[in-house]
Amino acid sequence: MINLHNKQFKPFISSEEIQNAISNMVDKISKDTGDDIPVFVGILNGSFMFVSDFVKKYPKPCEVTFIKLASYEGVRSTEDIQRLIGITQNLAGRTVVVLEDIIDTGNTLAEIHRIFKNEKVKSLKIATLFHKPEAYKKDFKIHYIGMKIPNKFIVGYGLDYDGLGRNLPEIYQIKETQFMTNLVLFGPPGAGKGTQAEFLKTKYNLVHISTGDVFRFNIKNETALGMLAKSYMDKGELVPDQVTIDMLEAEVEKNASANGFIFDGFPRTNAQAEALDTLLESKDSSISAMVALEVDDEILVERLVGRGKTSGRADDADEAIIRNRIAEYYNKTAILKDYYSAQNKYFGVDGVGSVEDITVRLSKVIDNL
Ligand code: IMP
Ligand code: MG
Repeated sequence: MINLHNKQFKPFISSEEIQNAISNMVDKISKDTGDDIPVFVGILNGSFMFVSDFVKKYPKPCEVTFIKLASYEGVRSTEDIQRLIGITQNLAGRTVVVLEDIIDTGNTLAEIHRIFKNEKVKSLKIATLFHKPEAYKKDFKIHYIGMKIPNKFIVGYGLDYDGLGRNLPEIYQIKETQFMTNLVLFGPPGAGKGTQAEFLKTKYNLVHISTGDVFRFNIKNETALGMLAKSYMDKGELVPDQVTIDMLEAEVEKNASANGFIFDGFPRTNAQAEALDTLLESKDSSISAMVALEVDDEILVERLVGRGKTSGRADDADEAIIRNRIAEYYNKTAILKDYYSAQNKYFGVDGVGSVEDITVRLSKVIDNL
């Protein structure tokens, strides 16, 4: 992973892959130019590395020149192409091959065609190392393409993000989601998880995904996934992990611009934890931490018995039931503690003290992620 300005980029195309693509282009172009001595016209700034490597591989005599255009602002292509250096030599009757680093919308290519319109060249061919077919809006033929890539912003190998990244020898792709804080929140019954989740949500602008709520929502609104889940529940069977994951994915997608998520009530098994990792990976993200509120059993029992007296919640009334629920919590979460510990992502937080004290302890963990 690399950071340029305020954005994160991940490795995408290796130097070796780039060099292979260039070698293939060289083979085709040198065959097609025959005995002509071509003039390769690089488009600055982005194409300087490509042109350099291309002509070093070119097996026959050739000329190299550059024109300089500018179109990009930040990560967006603009229509307004500036011509900074035009053609500086007579190209009449010559075999010209334009070498572009990347063709995106094709706006720059339109400008290149305008530039060559009155040059009376023998032939004009367009070669680009990278091409984003999904972004291309023009009809100009592109004669040689090194690699077709998805419509996502890339940097490296001559290409920049606001000036940075041109020097990187390989290509990096922008991360879909930036700097997310994704927490798996755990705590035994009575640990104050709900209270702290509310606080974390507000302070860090996170979306709280409680699996229980997501289930109830999908079933109540009779979504396709809700109906599917219900069909298992009606038969007394466990809802398959994939159905739960699909519901969570829908929640994550609904909140794509969030700073991150608090997962509450999920995962409960290794398989679910892996599935959650896969889901987040597909969003270019990951779990940042499992945060578990740690409270001594005797204190939990005391708290829950106290709560039972005022709330009248049946499951809080009986001490034996309470102890059983706490024991079950530890049985079930031990596996996950191991799973996240192995990735150095487990953070136990002392859950005894005032709400504010615990809040401060949680913030310390999160601020250091
Ligand atoms: P077009 O005019 O939209 O085809 O874009 C062409 C120019 O935009 C290229 O020559 C690059 O300078 C720049 N560009 C397009 N896509 C990218 C990208 O993903 N990363 C960096 N620069 C890009
Ligand atoms: Mg360019």
